[in-house]
Amino acid sequence: MQNKVTKAIFPVAGLGTRFLPATKSVPKEIMTLVDRPLIQYAIDEARAAGITEFIFVTSRGKSALEDYFDHAPNLEQELLKKGKDDLMAVLKDTYMDSGAIAYIRQHKALGLGHAVWCARRLIGDEPFAVILPDDVIAAEKPCLQQMVEAYEETGGNVVAAMEVPPEKASSYGVLDVEEDMGHIVKVKGMVEKPAAGEAPSNLAVIGRYILTPSVLRTLNEGKSGAGGEIQLTDAIAKEIDGESGVFGYRFRGQRFDCGSKSGFLQATVAFGLAREELREDLLGYIRDVVHLDRAAE
Ligand code: UTP
Repeated sequence: MQNKVTKAIFPVAGLGTRFLPATKSVPKEIMTLVDRPLIQYAIDEARAAGITEFIFVTSRGKSALEDYFDHAPNLEQELLKKGKDDLMAVLKDTYMDSGAIAYIRQHKALGLGHAVWCARRLIGDEPFAVILPDDVIAAEKPCLQQMVEAYEETGGNVVAAMEVPPEKASSYGVLDVEEDMGHIVKVKGMVEKPAAGEAPSNLAVIGRYILTPSVLRTLNEGKSGAGGEIQLTDAIAKEIDGESGVFGYRFRGQRFDCGSKSGFLQATVAFGLAREELREDLLGYIRDVVHLDRAAE
């Protein structure tokens, strides 16, 4: 029987340079899809998967994130006075139980692996999840919940995997597959950002992981990899020949790369269309734009 996964790390210490100048003062994770910040989607997904302890690895300039999860007594009083029960209900999702959330600072953006390592003392000797909030996944069953169920079968380390076209593989960590069992693949190698034509498969790792604590011990060595950063992929790859192994999990759902402008805009449209009260209006606008575009050709 595996240990239950109850802790999740949210690495949010990156500089978010692709969204400058906005990220000069607004953390990327506070940027909103329709009316919910990226971090809210990540927290909702973690809760659905049974996570009860939330660890944020933050950096300078991210205090808006801490405020977001705080109670807002003045705002609540106003809403109560005005009888806005619907808005009070909306706020409930942003509340965290006392002590359920912890913030750790990464003093320098030395890479995702380093950010995860910063949370080591709060993880201890248990399996844990890592969620990158800028990967937003629309799915009937939340992605991390699917992965927890897979992990209950496989144990070990489970990374979310997605098929990508060959020309995109060099932007990702890519899996070398030993055995393909459908949704679950057994991994025999992992390459971070392979050079063009050198990707071992079309299965790319995206921002959801369930990891064993021995990954943290590897990260203790502090070795840097691709781009001079301490790479999480490299530390996970060390587990392949270990006791528990590494598995890729082909999740069901659509992933949006909200760390890029194009992905963020696509997600905005998709999540907007998914909202009943916005759908018709938005669809009408999109139809007009497409129509004008065709007419101009
Ligand atoms: P990205 O590669 O998207 O980097 O990090 P970034 O700094 O957020 O954004 P750009 O590329 O400058 O626009 C992927 C995830 O890893 C976290 C980021 O916060 C993001 O969630 N990260 C990355 C850290 O927490 N620390 C790091 O040193 C690097």
